[in-house]
Amino acid sequence: MNIPEHVAIILDGNGRWAKSKGMPRTYGHTQGAKNVEVICREAWNLGIKYLTVYAFSTENWSRPGDEVKAIMDLLRSYLKTCKNTAEKNHMRVRVIGDKSGLSEDIQQSIRELEEFSRDFDGLNFQIALNYGSRDEIIRAFNGILGEIRDGILPEDTVVTEDLIESHLDTAGIPDPDLLIRTSGEERLSNYLLWQCAYTEFYFTDVHWPAFSKDELVKAIEAYSSRQRRFGKTGEQVE
Ligand code: IPE
Ligand code: IPE
Ligand code: MG
Repeated sequence: MNIPEHVAIILDGNGRWAKSKGMPRTYGHTQGAKNVEVICREAWNLGIKYLTVYAFSTENWSRPGDEVKAIMDLLRSYLKTCKNTAEKNHMRVRVIGDKSGLSEDIQQSIRELEEFSRDFDGLNFQIALNYGSRDEIIRAFNGILGEIRDGILPEDTVVTEDLIESHLDTAGIPDPDLLIRTSGEERLSNYLLWQCAYTEFYFTDVHWPAFSKDELVKAIEAYSSRQRRFGKTGEQVE
């Protein structure tokens, strides 16, 4: 089987999964967070080097206040668990998204987690929090403009793919080979628009909390059977 180096997942369906069990949506989020732990381990065991999960989008702030609060509280405890997992599995954790929009204590936990795990050589695990791809691209361009203003970049700077990429939150991380979205929706919802230019997509009806190792293997099998074409030259990846 051809194992993708980088898998990105849109964790969707926590609410529907909980509803199907007669439980509140927040229960779905709790179980969804637990499943992230499971899938991180399984991904590494399968030989995946990078895993990037979409946990909270810039659009998700428009959900009911109670739900947003429950997700933020869950995130607080998740970031603590994640530190233990990182230590145990030598996982390097990074957060992508606009961290400045999260509360100060969460920003502090993220800084600690990123610093603590920066030299670990296991799975590269990225969590997208307060992430929106359009927002990321806008921040990248404003970063470039700021560097030109501050004289870090020359005034006659020409925009190139490399220049943009190096200012995205994902700078230094290879583009995803495979994107999985659970729970039946087949859209990107503002996730990794730039990075997914040549990514293979896989959709499943399974809700995120029920997405097991077997489901991950199924997604990789589907990916593995595809002929990939890559970039402008049409060069075959494998
Ligand atoms: C994904 O599950 C988790 C987040 C977006 C935070 P949803 O909460 O979107 O669950 P559904 O799609 O309503 O079932
Ligand atoms: C996408 O899921 C965002 C995350 C998984 C964090 P949503 O459930 O929020 O997306 P839409 O609203 O259905 O497009
Ligand atoms: Mg959803």
